[in-house]
Amino acid sequence: MNGFMNWLDARFPATKMWKEHLSEYYAPKNFNFWYFFGSLALLVLVLQIVTGIFLTMHYKPDAALAFASVEYIMRDVEWGWLIRYLHSTGASAFFVVVYLHMFRGLMYGSYKQPRELVWIFGMLIYLVLMAEAFMGYLLPWGQMSYWGAQVIISLFGAVPFIGEQLALWIRGDFVVADATLNRFFAFHVIAMPLVLLGLVVAHIIALHEVGSNNPDGVEIKKNKDANGKPVDGIPFHPYYTVKDIVGVIVFLFLFSLILFYAPEGGGWFLEHANFVPADPLKTPEHIAPVWYFTPFYAILRAVPSINNSSFPGVVAMGLSIVFLFLLPWLDRSPVRSLRYRGPYFKIALVLFIVSFLVLAFWVRNLRQLYTHYLHRYSLLFILHSLSSCQSIQN
Ligand code: HEM
Repeated sequence: MNGFMNWLDARFPATKMWKEHLSEYYAPKNFNFWYFFGSLALLVLVLQIVTGIFLTMHYKPDAALAFASVEYIMRDVEWGWLIRYLHSTGASAFFVVVYLHMFRGLMYGSYKQPRELVWIFGMLIYLVLMAEAFMGYLLPWGQMSYWGAQVIISLFGAVPFIGEQLALWIRGDFVVADATLNRFFAFHVIAMPLVLLGLVVAHIIALHEVGSNNPDGVEIKKNKDANGKPVDGIPFHPYYTVKDIVGVIVFLFLFSLILFYAPEGGGWFLEHANFVPADPLKTPEHIAPVWYFTPFYAILRAVPSINNSSFPGVVAMGLSIVFLFLLPWLDRSPVRSLRYRGPYFKIALVLFIVSFLVLAFWVRNLRQLYTHYLHRYSLLFILHSLSSCQSIQN
């Protein structure tokens, strides 16, 4: 073994990388359970890629065959139901994990100097993940796949001057059609996953360059012993690799419960209308995206159109994401962690989470109210975006 490692190390920095990123990567001693979600996001990413490969072996990216090929996977392919549900429920699990991971960053000020780039890479991952999920949802070619895509792509039509041409270019046809399905398939199975993997590598390299933050927001690199090791740090391996296994077990337990007992999440993970084949001549009664998109969709719908153009809503929705990108520069407080910050920050963070959840769940549940009184919810949008720049007063 030693001989082999020497041979390998002379040609490839295997031991060097192992030391740099695991056995000699010093992480703060005080990580709590909020620090599980980074490794869990990695786990779900691998799960999605592996199940996706097996789905691709049986799926047909053709408007005439797609819906039936998914039913074939569910009924006739051995273990196909499990692979499909792992993938479709896995998509929701991915967003749960990533949202909790981002929330941890917000709580402990992990986006602040010197981790701005870790945050920016994270936000880019988030954007790509949204595109990936959106394109994946078109593939089963059910009613909601079809009409959801129709609505979202039409949004590009709201961009002044070039909008209509842009929407046509994205669809590849005048309505969502076979050409759209084919290109979304290409993006979903290869283009986006490649970008995602590249961004995740960049995210972790950037993190390991500056070192992890922690629930107290202290900088462990500032206090080193005679050997140059941080006094408040421990090697990531074996201490946190073992600790992360606990997170993995708890996650797999909860995930299995949902997977085996409620894989469609009662219409939250796979909407009921998506069990009906896409019909371009019949619009479903309610078109609503899956839960992880609803906060943004609600913002879009809450902002009134001007001159029949939904562009203001599109801009508002875009801004709610742009604010998050800018967070490292909007928050000018020298204090990092929520533990030591003043009441304004705490109130703003609670408002942000409440408005996010209301926009995601409550607004979606009360559909009747939703259609009639939506404009009144504009206030929620303002809360949603403003509380993203929590910083201003700290
Ligand atoms: C595929 C999705 C993602 C993966 C696989 C991933 C992976 C990781 C891992 C393994 C860590 C180190 C462990 C930890 O601190 O939990 C980490 C840290 C971090 N991630 Fe992510 N991440 C993802 C998405 C995001 C997103 C969307 C954001 C924010 C927009 C983000 C922001 C951060 C920040 C700020 C840290 C440093 C946290 C600290 O040191 O306190 N990540 N990420």
